[in-house]
Amino acid sequence: MLPAGVIADHGRHPGFRTGPAACYILAAMKSSQITIPQPDDWHVHLRDDAMLSTVVPDTARHFARAIVMPNLKPAITHSAAAAEYRARILAALPRGSTFEPLMVCYLTDHTDATDLSAGAAQGIFTAAKLYPAGATTNSAAGVTDVTKLDNVFEAMSVSQVPLLVHGEVVDDDIDVFDREAVFIERILAPLRARHPQLRIVLEHITTAEAVAYVAAADPDLLAATITPHHLSVNRNAMFQGGLRPHMYCLPIVKRERHRRALESAACSGDSHYFLGTDSAPHPRADKESACGCAGIYNSPTALATYLEVFERANALDNFSAFAAENGARFYRLPLNETLVTYTRSQTPLETAPVSESGVVIFQPPFALHWQELKRDV
Ligand code: DOR
Ligand code: ZN
Repeated sequence: MLPAGVIADHGRHPGFRTGPAACYILAAMKSSQITIPQPDDWHVHLRDDAMLSTVVPDTARHFARAIVMPNLKPAITHSAAAAEYRARILAALPRGSTFEPLMVCYLTDHTDATDLSAGAAQGIFTAAKLYPAGATTNSAAGVTDVTKLDNVFEAMSVSQVPLLVHGEVVDDDIDVFDREAVFIERILAPLRARHPQLRIVLEHITTAEAVAYVAAADPDLLAATITPHHLSVNRNAMFQGGLRPHMYCLPIVKRERHRRALESAACSGDSHYFLGTDSAPHPRADKESACGCAGIYNSPTALATYLEVFERANALDNFSAFAAENGARFYRLPLNETLVTYTRSQTPLETAPVSESGVVIFQPPFALHWQELKRDV
């Protein structure tokens, strides 16, 4: 739902038919616009040191707030480390930026529930992240057995601190494409049964099974983020004419039927689903390697990709819910007051293939047309 007074005039008219005579009209109609509260990114990797200062402006340019992943080396496992990391992020922002980083505690087998609860009470921690040990980049210090953390989950249930979940099992006998579905069955469902009041975000969902599992839950207790890459490519993209390391991320992109399920979920506007880019930059050489890192850097193209996906699904009316409302409601934060107008250009946008620091930027397999036109603060 859009707030009162917001115009979403995206120029799609039911019953409109294309054809030779209609082409001219279509071209005219494509100069469309959409105005929504400024979006937030509910899942991003900003890294640290030199990489931090090059990627922060790309996120801060588009998003008002972001949930910042804690999988640094060493990981952000305590509130003092989170407060320092937050200060480094703020110091790396362009002058005048009002971007707000929201910090996350990286759970380990030894997480101090008292420090986590105190950090949340002081406003340092917005959430805590469960990385199963070995599941992804910088997850070696993650959790080896979730049942060992029942005291932490109990404390989080009481203090209503959301648990953010990387939902993949790491067992060698499980096919990499099945890791998410098996995680839901073996780990997440029992965890939720043990902690029915724990508020959970299943991060970067990739499968029809995850969509269905999340849809069945109370949206105040279980929600999911969806990335621009999982919405716009299927697993063929990793092998198009050769091995494509820049399409490799975890959870790995899946079959087309899963992409379609994600698209339906995101584009429905359903409050269970919201925007989380999982933008995860790695130096180019670490991706183009015999053992390449998992992670797709999409901050510069994310919003344009999401808008294109929604437009192609004829669902721009639901874009505000997905990009600017559902996440804030789940996190019990106010909607952003700044209104942003995006406009659709008739000609494809020219986007940079790499960032200034040389990180390859995600490009979906279709042209991008949407860009920010103006802001009303
Ligand atoms: O592809 C990924 N990259 N998935 C993750 O879960 C972590 C991320 C990273 O930090 O590079
Ligand atoms: Zn991530």
